[in-house]
Amino acid sequence: MKAPPAAATSAAVIPASVCTALLDARHVVVFTGAGVSAESGIATFRDALTGLWETFDPEMLATPEAFLRDPALVWGWYEWRRKMVMRARPNPAHLAIASLASLVPRLTVITQNVDDLHERAGSTGVIHLHGSFFRPRCCACSRPHGVPAGEPDEPDGGRRLEPPRCGHCGERIRPGVVWFGESLPVDAYRPAEHAVRNCDVMFSIGTSAVVYPAAGLPYAAAECGAKVIQVNPAATDLDAVASFNLRGPAGTVMDLLIRTIWPSMPASR
Ligand code: APR
Repeated sequence: MKAPPAAATSAAVIPASVCTALLDARHVVVFTGAGVSAESGIATFRDALTGLWETFDPEMLATPEAFLRDPALVWGWYEWRRKMVMRARPNPAHLAIASLASLVPRLTVITQNVDDLHERAGSTGVIHLHGSFFRPRCCACSRPHGVPAGEPDEPDGGRRLEPPRCGHCGERIRPGVVWFGESLPVDAYRPAEHAVRNCDVMFSIGTSAVVYPAAGLPYAAAECGAKVIQVNPAATDLDAVASFNLRGPAGTVMDLLIRTIWPSMPASR
């Protein structure tokens, strides 16, 4: 008989059992999704009304076929999103996660996000499962291409913008992100899977956990005996496998968590 999902706890208090699990942990994994950047003003994908996929059609913008069909539309849209990220700042969740690195014996940060807010908050060795806005490459020879200098000057929602050309083979440059229908980079997925199968505690922060194979990682961790701590204002399919469901915005929950367990740490707000 399957155990009922762990009761959701409001973000007002951090349960003592969460504190104990973290203080006992040798290896902690933090797995994040778009929700961790929501408080930095970056839209998530599936949140009602505000999610990007509420306004934009992923079939038209986030598939290899879409880029073949209309490269200027796709490139312009990603340049607009890169602009939004460049204007954003890490929020208390990113800062709290970065500070964890000096508080636990070993920390691995795995993200589905293509922004650089974890790095700008001070996290190092972040595993980007779905690529990055800051790693464009040639769509034919895959050679990396320099990120266009400065902040893109793109209107809201993007506009048609011809992508630059590869200096080596002359083909078009594509955004360095993983599109629907594409495989995840092996050099990201393999170490991520290894980390989740060898950790004691895994945070799943700000993800709806519906896009696989990334969404399978918290299940793999739970299977291997790790305690999964979900941080999300809403319920997700992960409620069933999480040892703890902390309901609330990541910035509030993670900041409170650090200050509750390590009171001498300065607030990340
Ligand atoms: N703090 C924590 N979680 C939040 C916050 C917040 N402030 N605001 C929203 N959330 C939660 C939502 O409740 C939702 O469960 O974040 C989640 C965001 O889910 P999605 O928009 O589906 O984003 P994500 O899970 O990262 O999407 C996975 O899908 O579109 C593709 O490649 C894209 O990497 C992305 C993947």
